[in-house]
Amino acid sequence: MRRHSIAVIPGDGIGKEVTPAAMMVLERAARRHGFVLDAETYPWNCDYYVETGRMMPKDGLEKLRRHDAIFLGALGNPALVPDHIALRESLLLWRQAFDLYINLRPVKVLPGIPGPLKERPGLSVDMVFIRENSEGEYAGIGGRLRQGGDDEVAIQTTVFTRKGVERVMRYAFEEARRRPRKLLACATKSNALNYTMVFWDEVCAEVAKEYPDVEVRKYHVDALAARMISAPETLDVVVTSNLFGDILTDLGGALQGSLGLPAGGNLDPERRNPSLFEPVHGSAPDIAGRGIANPMAAVWAGSLMLDFLGETEAAREVMEALEAVAAEGRVLTPDLGGSATTEEVAKAIADKLG
Ligand code: NAD
Ligand code: IPM
Ligand code: MN
Repeated sequence: MRRHSIAVIPGDGIGKEVTPAAMMVLERAARRHGFVLDAETYPWNCDYYVETGRMMPKDGLEKLRRHDAIFLGALGNPALVPDHIALRESLLLWRQAFDLYINLRPVKVLPGIPGPLKERPGLSVDMVFIRENSEGEYAGIGGRLRQGGDDEVAIQTTVFTRKGVERVMRYAFEEARRRPRKLLACATKSNALNYTMVFWDEVCAEVAKEYPDVEVRKYHVDALAARMISAPETLDVVVTSNLFGDILTDLGGALQGSLGLPAGGNLDPERRNPSLFEPVHGSAPDIAGRGIANPMAAVWAGSLMLDFLGETEAAREVMEALEAVAAEGRVLTPDLGGSATTEEVAKAIADKLG
């Protein structure tokens, strides 16, 4: 029997609701396809920080490293711990420590959930964002000087390395080559960011020479954001820096109809370390504890995880089940105009699996 060892971190807020719901779906898929998910749940979140002064125990990284993959709900409870501490000592740390340098985030409008583009029926929105996930604006380099004074200074430095930019470009070109349209949009801002983004464009152009079959189009990120709304059918694979990808993929969620839908994988393509799968959304304190969070993003993240673990058939079936529930439109959470609970939606998806 195939076995996959999964570190499950429900985290904070609605992470604690959507994670068990999605795991139930994944376990159903595992049973049907003859493999086992050996899940170990870690209670690391902002409550844990209040108790221990840390987001995870001292040997947390070693614990996680032993697993084949990490399945995360969401982290962050600003009422308990400032976000920049909670996230830097958890998610952002894991991305850097495990060198999960690719953040792969599909943006796909599902039939039945037209979102804000409903006046354009039949429009195909099917993009995949390849976000640099280990450096850039999120490198964590900077400092503050003369705090609280009139002459206070705060500096946050963007770090682009040749290795870091080359590898994300190469991954994005490979992804574009695999897809029928062979089209890559490179998100830049080299009209204003005259060092980092000029370098980004140069590396893109260099790597492009290895992929003559892929068409590359360069867009400044501001225009690209507008294009996502006004002409989304012209976009396929999009490669972005860390911060630009963060912003554009929430916009992608809105395009999809709700932040309760999009998901992503934080990948180590070389498989030296466990890759991490999670919804794009956060812990949603505004709706937490009410059992109404949409579990579809977490289920989608689970499908991406199964695919990465080599369970491609199970991954496909989970996505088909999710898409069938979306298309029927009968069992949906309030963010999609329905009145179902988190558990009801997860159960509807699991039942489609048979
Ligand atoms: P958020 O994504 O948590 O919420 C934004 C809005 O979307 C809210 O109105 C929320 O109710 C709604 N929403 C999000 N997910 C939903 C779902 N599954 N179903 C229905 N509605 C949903 O973003 P935020 O409010 O900026 O952040 C809240 C906390 O989450 C902060 O602490 C933030 O730092 C953290 N955060 C964590 C992650 C992560 O762990 N990966 C990602 C983003 C934000
Ligand atoms: C995301 C989140 C994180 C990010 C936050 C929680 C640090 O918004 O995964 O999109 O900015 O990368
Ligand atoms: Mn984000």
